[in-house]
Amino acid sequence: MSSTNEIAADAPQEKSEKALKREAEKAAKKAAKEAEKAAKAERAVAMSAARGVSVQCSTAPPVELEACSGTRDWYPEEFRLQRWLFEKFRQTATRTGFEEYDAPVLERQELYKRKAGEEITSQMYAFVDQDGVDVTLRPEMTPTLARMVLGRAASMMLPLKWFSIPQCWRFETTQRGRKREHYQWNMDIIGCKSISAETELLYAVCEFFRSIGITSADVGIKVNSRKVMASVLDSYGITAEKFAPVCVIMDKLDKIGDEAVIEELVNAQNLPKETAEKIVACLACKNVDELAALCGEGVDQTGIEELKRLFSLADDYGFGDWLIFDASVVRGLAYYTGIVFEGFDRAGELRAICGGGRYDKLLSLYGAMSEVPACGFGFGDCVIVELLKEKGLVPVLPKSIEFVVAAFNEGMQGKAMKAAALIRSGGADVDMLLEPKKKVANTFDYANRIGARYIVFVAPQEWENGMVRIKDLRAEYTDKEDEKQLDVKLSDLGRVSELLREHEAAMRTVNEIETMAI
Ligand code: HAM
Repeated sequence: MSSTNEIAADAPQEKSEKALKREAEKAAKKAAKEAEKAAKAERAVAMSAARGVSVQCSTAPPVELEACSGTRDWYPEEFRLQRWLFEKFRQTATRTGFEEYDAPVLERQELYKRKAGEEITSQMYAFVDQDGVDVTLRPEMTPTLARMVLGRAASMMLPLKWFSIPQCWRFETTQRGRKREHYQWNMDIIGCKSISAETELLYAVCEFFRSIGITSADVGIKVNSRKVMASVLDSYGITAEKFAPVCVIMDKLDKIGDEAVIEELVNAQNLPKETAEKIVACLACKNVDELAALCGEGVDQTGIEELKRLFSLADDYGFGDWLIFDASVVRGLAYYTGIVFEGFDRAGELRAICGGGRYDKLLSLYGAMSEVPACGFGFGDCVIVELLKEKGLVPVLPKSIEFVVAAFNEGMQGKAMKAAALIRSGGADVDMLLEPKKKVANTFDYANRIGARYIVFVAPQEWENGMVRIKDLRAEYTDKEDEKQLDVKLSDLGRVSELLREHEAAMRTVNEIETMAI
């Protein structure tokens, strides 16, 4: 070993300035990294405290977590839109004097066995229950309504004006606006022969559209009369017996086209090809007189008169611009006997928005001793939402609540609950913060997340004086923090909303005066 090496190993290690600088930089970097890590961990704790605990789910869960095909889960944010829509349905119906009813979703299959080849009867969610009864989830509400009316026949004073928003089930091919379950707003009038009934229903449909911002430029309602169609088809040799199944086939025109309809009329109904072609040709009529001209001599003209009267009443009522005559609308359900109609988007992108008509023979089919005049419509909750999206008319419906009550600490929780109960006794909506937050900032985060207008702080200092402190989170009437809050006596909590309104008005006045003085 060389002596030089030994000397070098034993000599005191003098670090160069450069090396020292490098080391210092390294240490600073490490400290910064650790500080950042600690801050991140703190933020995560704070966030989970503010947001609550979130759920982690396995990527391969042991059960299928998707809702069944064609059905929808209603998470709160989606449910808010559904509630808004249903409220509009309800408001329109109650404003026009209709009463709400409901019934079980489970019905007997026999109610729908109409043998006219309707698609609906092959789409039922049908099964035999443990009593051996053939039951089904209802595919539509009209047979249920007829059953209910007949169930109390003698005690029913006609006309009845009823509405409902049932969930209906059809095993459909799902597509835009068509699902396997949907909610269907129904309005029906039982016991009125006059065309005023159809007019009233169509008025309600248009009022509903208007109430959600849809205009007659966006949507139209095609109207036809099965009575008139029956006259025309009778002149072509179609018997009354064949009329309903022929209508069911004609209704497919939009979906399957002229040729396929002709083919089905020939094959399924044994019609001569020439007759089938004439039937399809008459569906192209775009005004009442043109269709009337197709009726043979001596054919009953009441259907034509009814259509004309309907258009005239619609003008008087102020919604004539929504209606158009269209002979191709015959509807796919067998029971319609008179006026039929369907709502459509004028851009032509969506499936039918709603549909209905007169069904004077349905109740006698179920046991009424004589014909009971009836008409109504069904209006689904799917296409209309698609239309609102197209038009940019979906309302913004954030989560919101008036108050959140927050305890200063765990020890004040009982007192905070007492305060919450007192505020609720006055009719206000109150969210109780279940676990007091360690930091005030987290309480504010929570309040913002649930859309609260006011935080009610329940802290020892105010409580000892029989008070709570209320902070307004949306006080656009002032910039001063002390003006955004109000201490309220416990005995006044039942009328706290009124006190807060008074406080707001007072602060507005003060600030207006100050601004004027400047
Ligand atoms: P509908 O034409 O079968 O008539 O249905 C009426 C409305 O319900 C349709 O225009 C559509 O808005 C909605 N609808 C139907 N099927 C579906 C589906 N699979 N998915 C989403 N929406 C759907 C009837 O049901 C008659 N019972 C209406 C009626 C009441 N007629 C007289 N009174």
